[in-house]
Amino acid sequence: MMKCVVFVVVLTFLQSRTRGDAEVSCVFMESCILPCSFEADEYLVIHWYQVKGNIRVHSYYEEKDHQSDSFSGRTSLFNDQISRGNASLRLKVVKVQDQGRYKCYTRTWTGAEASFIHLKIDAPVRKVDIQQVENRITCSSKGIYPKPELTWSTSSQSSVTLQNKATVQQTEQQLYSISSSLNVSGTDLDYSCTVSTPTNKRRATWSQPTSINGSATETTIPCTSSNTPTGLSWIWRFNHSHIILNQTGTDSTVSEEWRQQVKSVSESGSLMLKDLSSDQEGMYTCELSDAEETNITNTFLRIQRSPEKTRGATFTVTVLICDIWFMTRQRIYTQWVQLLTA
Ligand SMILES: *[C@@H]1O[C@H](CO)[C@@H](O)[C@H](O)[C@H]1NC(C)=O
Ligand SMILES: *[C@@H]1O[C@H](CO)[C@@H](O)[C@H](O)[C@H]1NC(C)=O
Ligand SMILES: *[C@@H]1O[C@H](CO)[C@@H](O)[C@H](O)[C@H]1NC(C)=O
Ligand SMILES: *[C@@H]1O[C@H](CO)[C@@H](O)[C@H](O)[C@H]1NC(C)=O
Ligand SMILES: *[C@@H]1O[C@H](CO)[C@@H](O)[C@H](O)[C@H]1NC(C)=O
Ligand SMILES: *[C@@H]1O[C@H](CO)[C@@H](O)[C@H](O)[C@H]1NC(C)=O
Repeated sequence: MMKCVVFVVVLTFLQSRTRGDAEVSCVFMESCILPCSFEADEYLVIHWYQVKGNIRVHSYYEEKDHQSDSFSGRTSLFNDQISRGNASLRLKVVKVQDQGRYKCYTRTWTGAEASFIHLKIDAPVRKVDIQQVENRITCSSKGIYPKPELTWSTSSQSSVTLQNKATVQQTEQQLYSISSSLNVSGTDLDYSCTVSTPTNKRRATWSQPTSINGSATETTIPCTSSNTPTGLSWIWRFNHSHIILNQTGTDSTVSEEWRQQVKSVSESGSLMLKDLSSDQEGMYTCELSDAEETNITNTFLRIQRSPEKTRGATFTVTVLICDIWFMTRQRIYTQWVQLLTA
C-alpha cells in the first residue's frame, strides 16, 4: 500500500515539468496577458492560482470556464486557442493588489504541467506639476507605482541648497503621491523637478517670472518651444488658476471667458491676445509638455492704456449720434410744418 502511494507521487513529480518564473509587467488599469502553454491533449483541466493565499483565479474543466469571485469577472482564457495548447490568462483592469506570483496548472490525459508567472504592476509617472504660492514652489505628482523618487536641480551649477525633502503618501489603491516645496526668493534661477520610478521619469521646469508691457489692442505673450509641435501640448493659465486655453497637437479649446480675448496661438505656443482691458492684467502661465517633460513659463502682463484714443473714439461716436438725432428731428419738424401748412 505504502509503496504504491510513493510510486504515484514519484510518477506525478516526474510528469509535471516545472519551469522558472517568467516575469510580466502590466500597466495599472490596463489589460494584461499571463502566458502559459501546454501540450494539447484530451481531458483537459486548467487551473490558474494566485500563489499568495493560494487563491484559485480561473479554471477550465469539463470544457467550461469557471471564474473565481475574488477576481470579479476580470479574468478570461483565449477559448479558441485552448485546443492549440494556449492556456494564457487575460486579466482586465489590473490593480496593484494583483501583483505577485501566479501558477498555471494544466492536466491532460498525458500528464500535468505547471509554470509560474511573476506579475509586476506599473503606474508610470504621467504628469509633474509645479505650482507657485508667493515665494514657494511646490512640485507634485500622483497615481504612481512603485514608490517614486523626487529630485530638484537648478539651471546653474551654483551650490544652492535645495530643501528637497519629499512627502510621500499612499492611497487606498496603493498608488503613491509625492510632493516637495522650495523657497525661490532671492535667486534668479530656473528650477527643475524630476519624479522617477525604476521604469520611467518625468521632469518639470519652472522659470523665473518675467514681465512685459503689452498694448490693449493686441499683445503676444511668448512661450518658446524649440521642438516641433507634434506631440506637444499646451495649457495657458491666468493668475495661476483660470484656464485660458488647452491645446493638444492641433486640437485647441479656448475657455468661454476668454473667447473674446484669444486671437490665436502661434506654432511655438505663444499666445496672441486682443481687445484687452485692465481685467486681463496679471500672470500668464504657459505649461508646455512633450513625452518627457513640462516647461512652465510665467509672464506678468502689464497693459498699456491709450486714454486719448479711447476718449477720441467716444467723442466721435457722440457727435455722430447727435448729428443723426438732429437731422431726424429736423426732418420730422419739416414734415410736421408741411403737414400743418397743407
Ligand atoms: C495565446 O493566445 C493569445 C491570443 O491570441 C496570444 O496573445 C498569446 O500570445 C498566446 N499565448 C501563447 C503562449 O501562445
Ligand atoms: C524663504 O524666503 C523668505 C524670504 O522671502 C524667508 O523669510 C524665509 O525664511 C525663507 N524660508 C525658508 C524655509 O528658507
Ligand atoms: C513697462 O512700463 C513700465 C512703466 O509703465 C516701465 O517702468 C518698464 O520698464 C516697462 N517694462 C518693459 C519690459 O518695457
Ligand atoms: C524645455 O526647456 C528645455 C531648456 O530650455 C528645452 O531643451 C526643451 O526642449 C523644452 N521642452 C519642451 C517640451 O519644450
Ligand atoms: C486638456 O484637454 C485634454 C483633452 O482635450 C484633457 O484630457 C485634459 O484634461 C485637459 N486639461 C485640463 C487641465 O483641463
Ligand atoms: C490677477 O493678479 C493680479 C496680480 O496678482 C491682480 O492685480 C489682478 O487683480 C488679478 N486679476 C484677476 C482677474 O483676478
